[in-house]
Amino acid sequence: MTAEPTTRAVDVAGSEEIPERGRLIVEIGTTPPRTAGIFRFRGELRAYENRCAHQGGPACQGRIVSRVREDLDDRKASRGLVFDPDTMHIVCPWHGFEYDVTTGAHPGRPDFALRAFEVSESGGRVRVHL
Ligand code: FES
Repeated sequence: MTAEPTTRAVDVAGSEEIPERGRLIVEIGTTPPRTAGIFRFRGELRAYENRCAHQGGPACQGRIVSRVREDLDDRKASRGLVFDPDTMHIVCPWHGFEYDVTTGAHPGRPDFALRAFEVSESGGRVRVHL
């Protein structure tokens, strides 16, 4: 019989430290040293290990941007590129891989994804479950 893996909840921040479309980088372990990025988008929190699936860069510390999409008119002719406010991406500062904050996956390469952690919020505190 195999034992279920256990998780431990680590209190990492106050709720007010992560505003809408904001981010907080927190330490989640010292051996080895590890950090995680916690993001709030549409009121929900997501947590990912701060390690890019490409070459290990600090992906969670990159720029936060909306996805760029092409705006089409009724005839499907392009009216140019626009930011999609319904998405939130982070851009790894090393080589520019983007990750959708909602899924943790690269939008064009779903095989590249950040490692997600469960995150919870209660009593004004945020906890990451490791
Ligand atoms: S290490 Fe993140 S894009 Fe290369």
